[in-house]
Amino acid sequence: MRILGIETSCDETSAAVVEETGEAAKPWANRSNVIASQVPIHREWGGVVPELASRQHIRDICGVVERALDEAQTAWSDLGAVAVTQGPGLVGSLLIGVAFAKAAAAAARLPLVAVHHLAGHIESLVLQNGELPLPSVVLVVSGGHTSLYLVDEPGRYHLLSRTRDDAAGEAYDKVAKLLGLGYPGGPVIDRLAQTGNDRAVALPTTRLTHADRNAPELKGDLDFSFSGLKTAVLRYVRGRPPLAQREIADVCASFQRIVVTALLDRLFDAARRHQAKSIGIAGGVSANSRLRAELGGRGERREMPTFLPSLRLSTDNAAMIAAAGLRKFRGGSIAPADLNADASLTLGR
Ligand code: KG4
Ligand code: ZN
Repeated sequence: MRILGIETSCDETSAAVVEETGEAAKPWANRSNVIASQVPIHREWGGVVPELASRQHIRDICGVVERALDEAQTAWSDLGAVAVTQGPGLVGSLLIGVAFAKAAAAAARLPLVAVHHLAGHIESLVLQNGELPLPSVVLVVSGGHTSLYLVDEPGRYHLLSRTRDDAAGEAYDKVAKLLGLGYPGGPVIDRLAQTGNDRAVALPTTRLTHADRNAPELKGDLDFSFSGLKTAVLRYVRGRPPLAQREIADVCASFQRIVVTALLDRLFDAARRHQAKSIGIAGGVSANSRLRAELGGRGERREMPTFLPSLRLSTDNAAMIAAAGLRKFRGGSIAPADLNADASLTLGR
């Protein structure tokens, strides 16, 4: 069976066709994955402007879906279902994908499957690598989220912790902005950090010990926090004359060392506590070169299998949504015809 996936939760309009392989170990194969990025539109404003994002999704969605079907050499009649990101994300953006998917599914008489954006990111690991050895602890780290999940059975997610304030990707974007490096910040900081000294600037790490009043069901000691780090960079920069190129690289490298260490320390801690048989990192920040290298290194030292998506499957894309949609469809989940977008949809809690 083939499924059409649609993703419009933020600033990428994406459509993809994924098919079942019939192999238990590697269940999904990706036939197309078309992504229309809006980065050039939002760059001018230093971040995503929600109203501009939803308007651009409207312009792009039909062409992106047509191209995804074309590249996959797939007709509407070859499809078995349509999957769409229901949330979380920008509501105006989500609505475009959800409205398009509902209309397309009704017109083509196909079942509709609603997918959680983070379940999509987690599924990118399976699309890339095949089924993970379970239980697995997966870090989903992007511009909007920094969350640890325990996956104990295929398609079953338990939230272990999350950020109390900024997401790691958001911290990258804010620090890049205050260093005058433009948007999105992750790839620029990643590149500049490679030439800097990661011990040059003393920046704080945050270790939380208490449960969050807003999430008393979580212990809290695996939670993340990045806003203090961002403020420390701001204070460092404000207290000095304009930074030279080399000093900017040092700030980037020092910032990146703290972020990567914070992410990996908690990830490996959680894996140990839950006796995980594998570890995964997904989401836009999983494209980070230092995070990828250190994950591999730590995994080898602890004889823990580690998994990452390809760079294309790291940032927002519809192939991961299609794959997660296939899993839900096989689990018997079909969305109602009056499905609505949900900007703050939760997963595993
Ligand atoms: O998953 P994604 O495409 O969208 C969200 O769901 O948020 O993630 C985008 C985020 C941005 O904050 C961007 O700065 C960050 O991922 N990012 C990176 C890198 N590439 C993208 N962060 C660090 N290093 C990178 N190489
Ligand atoms: Zn995402």
